Amino acid sequence: MLAGFVLPSAWWLTACALAAQAPREAGSPAEPAEKNPFASEADITIGRQLFLSRCGACHGRDGEGGRGAALNTGQFRHGSADREMFLTIRYGIPNTEMPGTFLPDIEVWRLVAYVKRLGSAKAVEERAPGDPEAGRAIYSSQGCAACHRIDGTGGDMGPDLSSAGARSALSYLRESVVNPSAYIPVAYRTVTVTTASGARIRGLHLNEDDYSIEIRDLSGNLRCFLKSDLREIEYDKDSLMPPYRTLSETDLENLLAYLKSLKGTR
Ligand code: HEC
Ligand code: HEC
Repeated sequence: MLAGFVLPSAWWLTACALAAQAPREAGSPAEPAEKNPFASEADITIGRQLFLSRCGACHGRDGEGGRGAALNTGQFRHGSADREMFLTIRYGIPNTEMPGTFLPDIEVWRLVAYVKRLGSAKAVEERAPGDPEAGRAIYSSQGCAACHRIDGTGGDMGPDLSSAGARSALSYLRESVVNPSAYIPVAYRTVTVTTASGARIRGLHLNEDDYSIEIRDLSGNLRCFLKSDLREIEYDKDSLMPPYRTLSETDLENLLAYLKSLKGTR
């Protein structure tokens, strides 16, 4: 018997579709005030404490960016108006690592005040020392486009890089290239399943419940398996992306300069 197969099949579709339902955002967005009611110096001081404990790990202690976007450049792609930023922090940004929060409104407003203060410092935007044009050539010759899309061209086993430069700090981009397994965004974690007949199939971990597991295999097919038909499920620690450790420092700097130049449209 075939333990797993390519969709569609009516019965499986139901099982997978149920599992695939994304958790709904809590409630519908209430309409917050247009102007931040909590933006005094005292509020900003508290906002800073909140930021350090809840946001700094992704955005950097001073908002310089890391896993999360740089917040000190004075440019907010998701909106710099008080209300827009309140909604960003309250509900997070769908399909990205940016989470929402259940903090009370007043604390969210204090965070807005502090983040805007970070932005008003207008830190000079981080500059990559390398040559972006030379980096573009390395990007092509290394086959990065097999998995990444830039402005609509390329594969999609990895994140879209069209706005990688606006979204991520240089330190994060460097680590992503040299040691991709150091941090793997949830949407790109993989599993390897072993079927009863011994076949091993690796894919992006899409969904899982008590009975079934759904993955996207390396050819891009959605596949759903009944757990009772599987011999083993391994949660991989390694990224799908190979580490690029043999690039010379110059090549790497040029590649990073290219990635840093990708600012997307939004
Ligand atoms: C797990 C990592 C993570 C944490 C924790 C996190 N963020 Fe984010 N944040 C991100 C990422 C990633 C983005 C960029 C999303 C995108 O546009 O692709 C982002 C984007 C943002 C933006 C929008 C930036 C823009 O250019 O418009 C703001 C504002 C923000 N975060 C504030 C916060 C605040 C305040 C906190 C703490 C309450 C926080 N974030 C916690 C990862 C994180
Ligand atoms: C076999 C597919 C594959 C290839 C080839 C590949 N990547 Fe990746 N890449 C991924 C996956 C999957 C992720 C997400 C998981 C992770 O961060 O390790 C990723 C993550 C990244 C990130 C972090 C993006 C983010 O928003 O978190 C960058 C930057 C990146 N890759 C650049 C490159 C560059 C540059 C090359 C070529 C030198 C390359 N990749 C080649 C699959 C690939």
